[in-house]
Formats: sequence, C-alpha cells, structure tokens
Amino acid sequence: MFIFAASDKGGTGRSVTSSNLLYRSALQGNDVCYLDFDFGSPTAGAIFGIERAENGITDGTGMHSYLQRTVYQPAKIDVWAETDRPAVRHRPAGAGRLILLPGDVGGGDFVDVGGDAVSVKRQALVDQCLDLFLKLNAEFSLCLIDLSAGRNLAVELALRVTAAPAMRNITSRWLVFHRWTRQHVVAAGNLVAGPRGLRESAEKFGHDPEEFMDNLRFVRTAIIDPTTETQRGLSAKQGIWLHDSNERLNKLAGDHHVGRSRLLGSVPLDPMLQWQEQLITDSEVADGIANPKTRDAFNELAGRIVEQKAWETL
Ligand SMILES: Nc1ncnc2c1ncn2[C@@H]1O[C@H](COP(=O)(O)OP(=O)(O)OP(=O)(O)O)[C@@H](O)[C@H]1O
Ligand SMILES: [Mg+2]
Repeated sequence: MFIFAASDKGGTGRSVTSSNLLYRSALQGNDVCYLDFDFGSPTAGAIFGIERAENGITDGTGMHSYLQRTVYQPAKIDVWAETDRPAVRHRPAGAGRLILLPGDVGGGDFVDVGGDAVSVKRQALVDQCLDLFLKLNAEFSLCLIDLSAGRNLAVELALRVTAAPAMRNITSRWLVFHRWTRQHVVAAGNLVAGPRGLRESAEKFGHDPEEFMDNLRFVRTAIIDPTTETQRGLSAKQGIWLHDSNERLNKLAGDHHVGRSRLLGSVPLDPMLQWQEQLITDSEVADGIANPKTRDAFNELAGRIVEQKAWETL
C-alpha cells in the first residue's frame, strides 16, 4: 500500500505526523518505508534522528539522484540501526522494518526540468519513479511518500505514477494534513477540490475522480484540547473563546468538504513536538514528557490507514 502525504500550507505537521504514523505502524509489525519527496527541503532524516541525513544525504544516492538516474540503487537507511535516539535504536521483537529513503543534500526541487525538454524529462522521472514504487511494493507492506507542501512536481509525479496500469491493483491512499485554523481549513479544501487541485489533477492524469476521492482523507494536526494538562493555565474567557472557535471551524470545515466524514484522525498539540521534530517513543510517554494522547493518536492513525472501515465509500 502507498500513502501520499500532502498539504496545501507548509509547516502543517505533515512530516512529523507521517513519521510518527509510520513508526507506530512498524511497531505494530508492518514492514514500512518513508520516501522523502520534499525535494526542495529533504529533512526527514532529522525527525528519525539520522544525523547523516539531517538535510538529505551527501554521498549522491538520495531520491534526487535516483530519480534522475545518476545511481542504480537509492540509499535505504535502516532507522532501527542508525538512529541516534537510544529509545528508538534496536528493533523491538515483533516490529517490522523501518526504512528511510532520504533526499540528497542541496537536491533542490527539480527546477531544471523546464523548457522544451519538460515532457521528456518528466516522463523519464515518472518511469523511474514507477520502477521504484513497484520494487518497494514487493518489499514493504506500507510506503509513505512525503510530498511537501502545495501543488508541486512531487504531487504530479505521484498522480501520474499511480495512474499507470501497473499500479492499478495496488492501493494508494492520500492524506491531506492541515492545522485547525481558518486559513488551513480553507486551503486544505482548496488543495483537494479547487482549481488545479488534487481531484482535478488526478482526473487529468487518468484517475477516476470518484475513486480517487474515496481514497483521500484529512488529518488535523496540533489541535488544542482545552481539557488537557497543557492548557490548564487558560482563563475562563480563553476557554469560552476556544470553544466558540472550535464550533466555527467545524462549520467552516463542513462547508469546505474538510469535515468529519472525510477525517481520518486528529493529533493533539504536544509540547514536545512544538519544540522538536521527532518520533514520540513509549519511554517519553512513560516519563511523562510526551502526552499519551499524542502517542495514542499516532497509533490510531497507523491502524486506520489500513482499516477498510475507515475508508469505506462516503
Ligand atoms: N501535534 C503537534 N503538536 C505540536 N507541534 C507539532 C505537532 N505536529 C507537528 N508539530 C510541529 O510543527 C512544526 C511543523 O511540522 P512539520 O515539519 O511536520 O510540518 P510540515 O508540514 O512537514 O512542514 P514543511 O512544509 O516545512 O515540510 C514542527 O516544528 C513540528 O514539530
Ligand atoms: Mg515537512
């Protein structure tokens, strides 16, 4: 199965939520891999605690090089073995593989695929990406592709590759991440259903738009829960304002087709993640540093991603 992680805005929590979702899925026993398709800023290594891949890797075997065919094999980092986080190091009994395919340091956003050569070069990227996806599909039960923010080449690649006949029988699902604010709700709705949005582009590249939409859900990140310990300092007036804002946002989300029926899950605001992009481990929860509700939300997302019921036709 392939999961494509998209968002309209940057800084939505797409990468941190996706990494934690995948980590939880590996702990649940699945062989998983994370592909850093944030070509302009390939920093997924930092979240997994892989120092040599903090800004992409330096030996020229990252996603950029592989997709442009300057290497035959992309780098595959075994997170269990290489992470500098002691609480993550060593694969627990029963856990699956957890592999990161990083980008190249300074790789850039394929800005050079311009001019007349555009269609040729794009087709070469699509072919190479298709080849990669088919190989990874045989090796992993779940591959998550971080597509970076907005309408970009990574999104186009994902849509074109998954429309190929060879990918038709492989499940592809889309997650659209957004914060719980007015701007983010409207933007997320627009990324999906607006002009040159995912739905329109999917149809253009050969997908059945209804089927595509059945495989798309939203994920809300960093949600303030006024009942938690973290928010204890809120005044009564702030509490009322939060409550009213929440009601307004629910209405707005419904109006923009970002409402509950298309929601896969929500992740609470976690103080630890506000200060550092990282995996949340059970030991941090046990130590009382990370919020158990955050860990539970990641676990639930990891479960729902493969649960047929969460994806039944709307
Ligand atoms: N549940 C959460 N609670 C608090 N902070 C969070 C939460 N999720 C993510 N963050 C923080 O929000 C910031 C943005 O998250 P992240 O980098 O995952 O977003 P992104 O959408 O991938 O951004 P970009 O577009 O820059 O790649 C990070 O500092 C991250 O640690
Ligand atoms: Mg990111």
